[in-house]
Amino acid sequence: MEASLKLFTDFDNKWSYLAGCFQKMVIFNSKTEIAASLEEKRRSGKKIGFVPTMGALHAGHLSLIERAKKENDLVVVSIFVNPAQFNNPDDLKNYPRTIEADEAALKKANTDVLFFPSVEEMYPPGETGDEPFEFGDLETVMEGKHRPGHFKGVALVVSRLFIIIQPNAAYFGEKDFQQLAIIRELAKKMNTGIAITGCPTIRETDGLAMSSRNLLLKDNERKEADKISKALFFIRDNRGGFSIKEIRYKAIEMVEQSGMMKVEYLEIAEEKNLQPVNEWPAEKNVRAFAAVKLGNIRLIDNVPVSN
Ligand code: PAJ
Repeated sequence: MEASLKLFTDFDNKWSYLAGCFQKMVIFNSKTEIAASLEEKRRSGKKIGFVPTMGALHAGHLSLIERAKKENDLVVVSIFVNPAQFNNPDDLKNYPRTIEADEAALKKANTDVLFFPSVEEMYPPGETGDEPFEFGDLETVMEGKHRPGHFKGVALVVSRLFIIIQPNAAYFGEKDFQQLAIIRELAKKMNTGIAITGCPTIRETDGLAMSSRNLLLKDNERKEADKISKALFFIRDNRGGFSIKEIRYKAIEMVEQSGMMKVEYLEIAEEKNLQPVNEWPAEKNVRAFAAVKLGNIRLIDNVPVSN
């Protein structure tokens, strides 16, 4: 009896494993339909992990999906190029859109559900906007200072996505460290109990942080782009030898030397509150952050500079 019960359980386990392998990714364009389907999953006790993206997927995005797969029963990925967070109309127009390749990559990564809404679905015409979230000093420095309104747009779309998907956990990259801090604050303000997980930056072999915008670089620009991470690594590796003023000056020089790139900002800031520092703090974790223009393309990166 016991043996046959074990056999049955083994068979059952294998069957559900095999069924999982052949399970198709379900694609939703409608927020009410995805919400209804996920409500059912939630009721049957499934833990939902969520990875919001703007598509043009690369190994950085896939690392978030892999982490979400490990920690949840079901993984939802969204692809939505969010107009509300672009402060430059050309940047929005030129943002890479590669949905067919994205779908193939998501299937290969065993994504369970893709949410791919239209702009009208996320922002119904005539609807009045939500009350904007306030993030105080977090949104007045670096990206917040140089891209006015950007984080309001990020918070708007992510808050709407959180309400639609209602995940147990959501995954964001440290590549956008300031965004990650804003999202942690947003999750606190929304009080939804969604656990926010930050994941390390995935890089190309020459050190360039992976980014959808890298697709827009011309060959000669791509060859130049590794100087951004190299300058940040230089700060990380030479903290002891220079004052902040000196090391920032040297790093900016490394990036701008050939005349192809222009530094928008290069700051060393505390991890906790993202406020730039002018002296190395004794026991606080800091990071080096940069935004750089390379032709028309704007790239950002950051690297931890530990004590
Ligand atoms: P997107 O730039 O597509 O990035 C989606 C997620 O992937 C973000 O959490 C980002 O930090 C992470 N990511 C990007 N490049 C990465 C890399 N090289 N290594 C690790 N993670 C990386 O960020 C956005 O979209 C949007 O602002 C969004 C949160 C979806 C709201 O519209």
